[in-house]
Amino acid sequence: MLSYRHAFHAGNFADVLKHWVLVECIDYLKKKEKPFTYFDTHAGPGMYALDSDFAQKTHEYETGIARIWNDPQLPEVLQPYCDLVKSLNEPASLNVYPGSPGIAKWMLRETDRLVLSELHSTEYMALSENFSHDRRAEVWKEDGFNRTLKRLPPSHRRGLVLIDPPYELKEDYERVIDFLIAAQGKFAQGVYALWYPVVDRARIDEIERALKQSGIRAIALFELGLEADTDGRGMTSSGMIVINPPWTLKKQIDSGIDYLVNTLGKDGAFSRSEILVEE
Ligand SMILES: C[S@@+](CC[C@H](N)C(=O)[O-])C[C@H]1O[C@@H](n2cnc3c(N)ncnc32)[C@H](O)[C@@H]1O
Repeated sequence: MLSYRHAFHAGNFADVLKHWVLVECIDYLKKKEKPFTYFDTHAGPGMYALDSDFAQKTHEYETGIARIWNDPQLPEVLQPYCDLVKSLNEPASLNVYPGSPGIAKWMLRETDRLVLSELHSTEYMALSENFSHDRRAEVWKEDGFNRTLKRLPPSHRRGLVLIDPPYELKEDYERVIDFLIAAQGKFAQGVYALWYPVVDRARIDEIERALKQSGIRAIALFELGLEADTDGRGMTSSGMIVINPPWTLKKQIDSGIDYLVNTLGKDGAFSRSEILVEE
């Protein structure tokens, strides 16, 4: 039984890094006219009401997107992501936050395609509703790892795959590695963006080790840590591992991540921006 609901966490510090990286990757793919397909293995509902009981129970967005979306000191590189959030809200009040499919919906072109997978019944219904009139999108109530593998490679051989599991099941830490290796085998030139939480650092070290040994080339890692790693205080950091990153991505993240450390972080906050494997 799946119990994870992302509405509790929508717009938190982890979403800020995840969705900023996503915006940059989509933007990069749009620089060529040739269409591409956006795959979301764990899509969620696509849009979140920040006045919902879920968001109001945790207030996580208040220490994430709410701190930066209207900040006059916002670095230019974070502007497109925040502009997208602004375009969905009234100027002075942050009421809704886009999930990853919502971001893709607004950014993709008429000729691009979306393949979205979501297993939770309620989230699937909301996602289907959000895309009911969108002819570019396929919405599947199916395991996202399996469905995405079945659909690779995409037509035009251009694509971006977001892998964003809840890690509610510990097996997700292994499944993401198996998925990336299998997906790369079918579609080596795709851009893959894997989100990870740091709850237990050893699990992330293991993902890094496995990917370095996998033979996959061109792997970058970006991480935002709100505080130093701890034992048993929940998620203190989170990051994105990007395979075949746009060549501009590291420079873009480097020019905005210190701002996020200073604006969202606590004592001991830190960032990582590394090339794990060269091209
Ligand atoms: C972290 S949330 C996704 C958030 C979304 N990507 C975003 O950025 O807005 C993870 C989602 O994966 C769903 N899920 C869990 N296991 C799944 C699976 N095997 N296949 C597809 N969806 C799954 C959960 O119901 C949840 O909605």
